[in-house]
Amino acid sequence: MIKLDYRNVRADIIGQQHGLDITSEFNSYASKISEIIADLNKRKDKPGQWLQWMNLGYNEETLWLVKEYASLVRNRFENVLILGIGGSSLGGMALSEALLKPYWNLLTPEQRENYPRIFFLDNIDPDQIEGLLNFLDLSKTLVNVITKSGSTAETMSQYMIVKDIMERELGDNYRRNIVATTDKKVGILRQLSDQEGYKTFVVPDDVGGRFSVFSAVGLLPLALVGVDIDEIINGVKDIDLALKNTDIHNNIAAQNALIHYLLDIKKGKKLTVMMPYSSRLRYVADWFVQLWAESLGKRVNRNDENVYCGQTPLKALGVTDQHSQIQLYNEGPNDKIINFIRVENFDKTLDIPNVFEYTGLNYLCGKTINDLLNAEADATRVALVDYERPNVTISLDKIDSYNIAQLLYMLEIQTAIAGELYNIDAFNQPGVEQAKNYTYALMGRTGYEDSARALQERLNLIGSFE
Ligand code: PA5
Repeated sequence: MIKLDYRNVRADIIGQQHGLDITSEFNSYASKISEIIADLNKRKDKPGQWLQWMNLGYNEETLWLVKEYASLVRNRFENVLILGIGGSSLGGMALSEALLKPYWNLLTPEQRENYPRIFFLDNIDPDQIEGLLNFLDLSKTLVNVITKSGSTAETMSQYMIVKDIMERELGDNYRRNIVATTDKKVGILRQLSDQEGYKTFVVPDDVGGRFSVFSAVGLLPLALVGVDIDEIINGVKDIDLALKNTDIHNNIAAQNALIHYLLDIKKGKKLTVMMPYSSRLRYVADWFVQLWAESLGKRVNRNDENVYCGQTPLKALGVTDQHSQIQLYNEGPNDKIINFIRVENFDKTLDIPNVFEYTGLNYLCGKTINDLLNAEADATRVALVDYERPNVTISLDKIDSYNIAQLLYMLEIQTAIAGELYNIDAFNQPGVEQAKNYTYALMGRTGYEDSARALQERLNLIGSFE
């Protein structure tokens, strides 16, 4: 099981001004937390609550269908190309970076056991798209288009570009190279998939993008490159059971949610930093940033009062960003909580050779890179404590499917509990929808004409870039 160490948010460690009296806070919030957890578990099966992600660990059918399809296309493709954005790509990116061998796409087919390379196109930078499509042989590429709404402009424009090239190169057979993951009934991609005859997977009802990593959205890309998705689901099931515990003293997601909430409202910690000490976890930080930002960044609470809620999440990478951001975190404004992710056992132990015995480098000789990395993580934590900066450490025994699934699911539950503490709806995203609708209007989509006129007037006032 993953662990949470919250000693460094305690007032007796970092001082009264910035620290919390954890024992008394846990006791005074115990019944509130217990109600929240019980309520989430009671509501999770009800339609319209957007809590179906809490059931994804038990969706045997999806697991089976994904594995069956992955084995059907095994050895047929050299590349997998994922088209999607936001919640439709970040989970897959986080898990594949963590679980595949480092530099996967640079390995030989033998080193990859003939599993394909994997590419995520999560932006619409024309130079990047052109560069990737010039390089990929699309006839040997399986394209997984992922969009829950089935209409997101970025994903659908990427899809149209790719479909056009593929159809010209492969004729009708291009359809075998496309698999769509979308809503089971509604949306343009669903209609197109039925019409064109694509293989499809479903983003289940009441699962928002940023909570969809354990549906086919995240599982299919991983299965296609040979990741053990059974172990992912085992990790989710085990941590789900642990996090159903309504006692705050025994629920790490509730503890970290409450710590973040209290540090925000009582101690002015308006930012939270996710800092894994492992390059393989760098996109876990990206994934978390979206989860925390889109879920908790809300104008109104459940009583429709303006609250402008939400801590700003930032990402950092240990040890790299010790030489970039830590100066600010130690000595700049004391307005953050730092979340370290610590890996106890790396796959490899790398010795530092004894090559310079008589120089100032001999303190490193005979040690390992692993010793150095963990010493640097400890040094950073101690320095933060010296400067009275709150920080917590989430520890994983090692990076594997089981442990990473636990980490992501714990952060999802933590986010849901934090949403309830703030009394906001953590599962909608009106701010994202607004920007999507403005894009549709500016690009001339039918049905958005009034909006387009109003937007044009405002652009005339504030000036467009043309
Ligand atoms: O988490 C979310 O809801 C968003 O980030 C969506 O995933 C993102 O906007 C993409 O939406 P869609 O999957 O509908 O293309």
